[in-house]
Amino acid sequence: MAKVTIHLVAANGNETTLECALGQSLMQAAIASNVEGIDAECGGTMTCATCHVYVREGFLPKLPIMTSDEDSMLDFTASLRKANSRLSCQIPLTEELDGLTVDLPETQT
Ligand code: FES
Repeated sequence: MAKVTIHLVAANGNETTLECALGQSLMQAAIASNVEGIDAECGGTMTCATCHVYVREGFLPKLPIMTSDEDSMLDFTASLRKANSRLSCQIPLTEELDGLTVDLPETQT
């Protein structure tokens, strides 16, 4: 099965690199590997905003267009919303995202 490599950089600079199967969301991949800094309290139903990530610039154009629901939920993140904020449950891992790097916010709650 095809895999992609993703990098999650914690607020303290610690980086976690994962080899992930395609077809799952970034949030699901992070949760499956117990990555600290992604809470995902709602399990991906887009009602918690605790899967907030900051996407490194080069990858922003490769992500699905943000829906108005995601846009609204991003107003409820615990850490500051930035121009590159996304909900990781809304990022399906595709081959195009190989090497995806995201920064994790200081807190999700
Ligand atoms: Fe709850 Fe993404 S997991 S909004």
